[in-house]
Amino acid sequence: MAADPKPGCVAVFGGSGFLGRAIVESLVAEGITVRVAVRSPGNAKIPEPPGPAGKIEAIYADVRDETSVACAINGCDAVINAVGLYVERGTETFEAVHERGALNVAHQCAAQDIRRLIHISGIGADLNSESSYVRARARGELLVRDVFSRATIFCPSVLFGPDDKFLNTLIKIIRRSPVFPLFGTGGTKLQAVYVGDVAQATLRALRKPASRGKTYELGGPRAYTYRELIELILSRINKRRRLLLPLPFFAWDFLAAMASVLPAPPLTRDQVTLMKSDNVVAENSLTFKDLGVKATALEKILPEYSF
Ligand SMILES: NC(=O)c1ccc[n+]([C@@H]2O[C@H](COP(=O)([O-])OP(=O)(O)OC[C@H]3O[C@@H](n4cnc5c(N)ncnc54)[C@H](OP(=O)(O)O)[C@@H]3O)[C@@H](O)[C@H]2O)c1
Repeated sequence: MAADPKPGCVAVFGGSGFLGRAIVESLVAEGITVRVAVRSPGNAKIPEPPGPAGKIEAIYADVRDETSVACAINGCDAVINAVGLYVERGTETFEAVHERGALNVAHQCAAQDIRRLIHISGIGADLNSESSYVRARARGELLVRDVFSRATIFCPSVLFGPDDKFLNTLIKIIRRSPVFPLFGTGGTKLQAVYVGDVAQATLRALRKPASRGKTYELGGPRAYTYRELIELILSRINKRRRLLLPLPFFAWDFLAAMASVLPAPPLTRDQVTLMKSDNVVAENSLTFKDLGVKATALEKILPEYSF
């Protein structure tokens, strides 16, 4: 099947976030005009256009407000929803952002007959999860499909990249503390995926007609247990004398409950829940391979981190 034409203008919700920035950079590098839809266009962390100026424009949008979504996507060929919310605050709830917000974006894409929508969710989204975050992600996917059936859904595993929160937080803890507590025995598997690869996959999907209406699970070239990830970081930091302490999940649940009263909790119950199950690409799912993207090994990117 012939490739779809390169989109002229793409709106990226969440374009100031970790994944969103990588997507914006990849789109602009292809000469595509990007409209970064964010809540604070003046202050948001938006990438600088590398080439000719004027390829990136920032516009106000809050996915909870359908009118702002309508304005943000007006005249665009494609829309990417890379909005993320990990901690609920007041009216910023998982339901408001990952369900109603996702629905607003998909609904406006349908109303304005936008050619393509890529909705970012995550591996492990589950309607029956004990985590309200994970349930909201699963319901969000259903709502998007319901109103815009040709949407492409990406479910990445945990993302890494030199400016990520995930590995940089682990590096910080390992540097400071002689003891490193593991989630359970540290046996949970994570198929950590390079943020730049997910951005590349976005570009590929926008040009690939067969990706319409499909869901892709995106993971790195290998799955690491949590313990293996920590040992990999230890080997880089060269501080091998750290005690890796298994800590049962009920203790993590308790710590997360205590932390939930803090304004910016360092650990949430949803994160603990996610760490109870493997976060790996399911057999028989569509993957990077189906989009022609070769996943980058963590070992290749690790030297770019500040240890
Ligand atoms: N990071 C990972 O390891 C990982 C793994 C799997 C899946 N994912 C998924 O990938 C997506 C992006 O994650 P991320 O880690 O890049 O998130 P992030 O760095 O926390 O960025 C979140 C983005 O969402 C925007 N946002 C939040 N609430 C909004 C609202 N109401 N209206 C409009 N924009 C809003 C933020 O914009 P403001 O500037 O306005 O705050 C920001 O640009 C999420 O769907 C996440 O679940 C991430």
